[in-house]
Amino acid sequence: MSQMKGKTLVITGATKGIGEAIAEKFAQNGVNIAFTYNSNEQLANELAQKWEETYKIKAKAYPLNILEPDQFKPLFEAIDQDFDRVDFFVSNAMIYGRPVVGGYGKFMRLKPKGLNNIYTATVNAFVVGTQEAAKRMEKVGGGAVVTMSSTGNLIYIENYAGHGTNKAAVEAMSRYAAVELGEMNIRVNAVSGGPIDTDALKAFTNYEEVKAETIKRSAVNRMGTPKDIAGAVYFLCTEEASWITGQTIVVDGGTTFR
Ligand SMILES: NC(=O)c1ccc[n+]([C@@H]2O[C@H](COP(=O)([O-])OP(=O)(O)OC[C@H]3O[C@@H](n4cnc5c(N)ncnc54)[C@H](OP(=O)(O)O)[C@@H]3O)[C@@H](O)[C@H]2O)c1
Repeated sequence: MSQMKGKTLVITGATKGIGEAIAEKFAQNGVNIAFTYNSNEQLANELAQKWEETYKIKAKAYPLNILEPDQFKPLFEAIDQDFDRVDFFVSNAMIYGRPVVGGYGKFMRLKPKGLNNIYTATVNAFVVGTQEAAKRMEKVGGGAVVTMSSTGNLIYIENYAGHGTNKAAVEAMSRYAAVELGEMNIRVNAVSGGPIDTDALKAFTNYEEVKAETIKRSAVNRMGTPKDIAGAVYFLCTEEASWITGQTIVVDGGTTFR
């Protein structure tokens, strides 16, 4: 869409899965991409090169650890050196593996450290990233922010209490941000995904079971894909969504109601 051409998206965690699909969707529509990686530097640089060549846009990868919210300020300062504007921010990255020990598990096994890590990665990363992005959006007359959420805050998913509660928290935080950033012409929304086939889901101890159950529950009889989420995030950032703010859009193939 021409209205998007030449604008800039900042997105965290776009090396794979949902983040990669979102970045690619924006790139296809002429949006320049500043995105972060954590462990996959080489892959990130290859993606940047691919998007630049394929879509004739500017794309650059930056390191970020969302467990260190102080890194957002220097991240955006580095982005300022390479991009002349920030129009969209998508808070997408999520921790996995060792940092979620004590956060991913049954209720009686939850531990403050694991839970705190998930809070930092989910809510703090959204808050600090959005603050930095909003300062830049204000300079160009406004923008849009989207945070990734999950339907695991609406329905029970085994071992998901730590993530589910923090997704509920980030949805609430995004509504507060929406009210207060509206005067800068910045809209803030959340996209709440049902189970999507990515590495994060494959890390679930009961991955096969979740996948089979998702297909069974889905009104359209299939698993969710990263592209399903990317379309909704992109829409929320366009002018077509200019009266939508402070909302959570559920993209779940109809799985939540069943
Ligand atoms: N998959 C689902 O079923 C599902 C459903 C609903 C919502 N979501 C949400 O969608 C978002 C993306 O999930 P996904 O399934 O696409 O995940 P994913 O495939 O595991 O990708 C995670 C991304 O986060 C980055 N990352 C990991 N640890 C990080 C850290 N400490 N600091 C900064 N970045 C880090 C990774 O970068 P590197 O590759 O460089 O390490 C990668 O780009 C998450 O917020 C998730 O909660 C997922």
